[in-house]
Amino acid sequence: MKKNAIIISATLLLIISCKKETKDTVGEVVVEASYAPKEFDASKFESKIDSLIAQMTLEEKIGMLHGNSMFTTGGVERLGIPELKMADGPLGVREEISRDNWSPAGWNNDFATYYPAGGGLSATWNTDLAYLNGNSVGEETRARGKDMLLSPAINIIRTPLGGRTYEYFSEDPFLNKKISVPFIIGLQDNDVMACVKHYAANNQETSRDFVDVLIDERTLREIYLPAYQAAVMEANAYSLMGAYNKFRGDYLCENDYMLNKILREEWGFKGVVVSDWAAVHSTVKTLENGLDIEMGTPKPFNEFFLADKLIAAAKAGEISEEEINKHVKRILTVLFQVKAIDGKDRVEGSIATEEHYQDAYKIASESVVLLKNDNNVLPLKLDGIKTIAVIGNNAMKKNALGGFGAGVKTKREITPLEGLKNRLPESVTINYAEGYLERYTKNENNQKTAVTLEGPVTVEELDEAMLQEAIEAAKKSDITIIFAGSNRDYETEASDRKDLSLPFGQKAFIDKIMAVNPNTIVVMIAGAPFDIEDISKKSKALVWSWFNGSEGGNALADVLLGNVNPSGRLPWTMPKRLEDSPAHATNSFPGNESVTYAEGILVGYRWFDTKNIEPLYPFGYGLSYTNFEFSDLKTDKEVYSKSDIIEVTFNLKNTGKMDGKEVAQLYVSKPESKIERAAQELKGFKKVLVKNGTSEKITIQLPTKELTYYNVDKKQWMVEPGTYKLKLGKSSRDIVTETIITIK
Ligand code: BGC
Repeated sequence: MKKNAIIISATLLLIISCKKETKDTVGEVVVEASYAPKEFDASKFESKIDSLIAQMTLEEKIGMLHGNSMFTTGGVERLGIPELKMADGPLGVREEISRDNWSPAGWNNDFATYYPAGGGLSATWNTDLAYLNGNSVGEETRARGKDMLLSPAINIIRTPLGGRTYEYFSEDPFLNKKISVPFIIGLQDNDVMACVKHYAANNQETSRDFVDVLIDERTLREIYLPAYQAAVMEANAYSLMGAYNKFRGDYLCENDYMLNKILREEWGFKGVVVSDWAAVHSTVKTLENGLDIEMGTPKPFNEFFLADKLIAAAKAGEISEEEINKHVKRILTVLFQVKAIDGKDRVEGSIATEEHYQDAYKIASESVVLLKNDNNVLPLKLDGIKTIAVIGNNAMKKNALGGFGAGVKTKREITPLEGLKNRLPESVTINYAEGYLERYTKNENNQKTAVTLEGPVTVEELDEAMLQEAIEAAKKSDITIIFAGSNRDYETEASDRKDLSLPFGQKAFIDKIMAVNPNTIVVMIAGAPFDIEDISKKSKALVWSWFNGSEGGNALADVLLGNVNPSGRLPWTMPKRLEDSPAHATNSFPGNESVTYAEGILVGYRWFDTKNIEPLYPFGYGLSYTNFEFSDLKTDKEVYSKSDIIEVTFNLKNTGKMDGKEVAQLYVSKPESKIERAAQELKGFKKVLVKNGTSEKITIQLPTKELTYYNVDKKQWMVEPGTYKLKLGKSSRDIVTETIITIK
């Protein structure tokens, strides 16, 4: 059994019995956590560390500052200092990679649980599931004998085209931090380090190796940094990964402002900063400006910037041994902290267990978003149903591996087709047709995925015979479900997509199927927005699932059949057109040598709501098989001081016939503000189970410090006095009730 025991009731209600605590505030920054991180007191290990350092040679010290294999840094055996062992994430613990090249090591004991990708987890809007995910994958990290998992990936989703949108959590800084913090705490509860990546402002894959990102200070603080800040100050993250790109002229792995000033001086970070793989460009500057560990892709490891070159620099007096000691000390601190040195009772962990597959199931089952449901065609009514056509390459496509970047080698990945087979009664026959092929133009090495700067290049023509087979299946079946979308070869690290269109000729394909069976349900499997306006208009029901982990197919089938009431909500805005979304409307993506984030603070729904642009599906949106009503919105007072906590209460009634979970979302607007503001900002949410026909009284605590903005001149978070509107609703575009408070 895990620490912080998790009890699951039949209705999937998760009750986390772990210690809950609200910390105090630091300066003007909110430090409020519902999960308590382990104590991280670096001074505790100081005398032992000093004595170790005193015994180390220069070469031994520097050996700890760079990769000595693909995923380890050097240890000092004679002093009992082990290698620091990393495993890649975030979809789960990546298979073992060879020590000196990218090929798999060929182990047969490195099968792991494939957890839903970041978009799926954040679509649950369930902070308890974020903890569960972190804790579960933390146990797997330990079972593989690792000290650090390269996870979570928490960059803000600035453009829907971003190749890593599926891995990241949200376009919204508040949802981002509320999912990140419990995830990190859960992970680190297992005596392993989270490596929170990619710090920071790494919001596109195009030119990621060199692009200079220019963001104004207020936007940086309010949009791009809050989740990292919370990772450090609320979750005590032990490590962060420096990103590839530049920020205001300097690479992020040698960026004094980001690493020394903000991360360490302002936030008090005591852990280590690891470079992204081959993201280091200098020796002395890198070390002095705050990076601790250089990792990279194979070349002789002693040729890394923080290897022989650093030894030479030290010997030439270009860098002091004291500076080197500082970094060694940080690494030793985190090794002590996770009991890699001197550790008694270190968590042993477990991997690919049924319990962990079920953890993945719980997340997946709360992540599926019901976008449209005309005449309640869902859940499927099976009375009199003899045949169901299951159509589409995505009904069978696996996504644990794929594309460029880390995947998971797993023994279990239930596809949507398998999920339906598992869950449908034997009396129902499935007529499966693949329908369209996942096809790419091949590159000169005959590789399937031609990763270009414009994204993978796909073949759009349909295969006539396959199309006919699918049409026949749809014609002869009582119900047709198309599984469309993309996959992890198409949405991939290292390239952004070129546009929002569905690849492989799917739009024409779906049209042709719908023409023969107008009662078609479409299920999208994808991690990022697509142009689905037309499909949305024509389909009877539209469901969104993700790269959804080992049990994704079972969870999806349970939602389609009504064994689970859908409760996922979009963690980003689905635009009608690419040009509507902020980075594209301002023509500031992807830049060339540099990119200026011209939309400023108006990222995601902040842009759509402020500019009055109608999205296809708004941020926070998702339907349920039941209906909810909000009433009696109240606050405990009318006037608050700048350090108060606003207690917002309301009733939530389930007026339908099925138990269900609603995500109550609290947005805040500041009328007549003296500064530029978004029309509204998410400042609280709560996911609650309400049994059919009953009501729950809900409280959301909103610290007034959450209402601060970053004052660039004063370099401070400040609350503007005056009235604020608190708006409660079901999505950013479905505000049901409002109230007003005043801050003195
Ligand atoms: C990615 C990281 C990953 C690292 C190691 C990089 O290309 O950006 O997210 O952890 O490779 O595989």
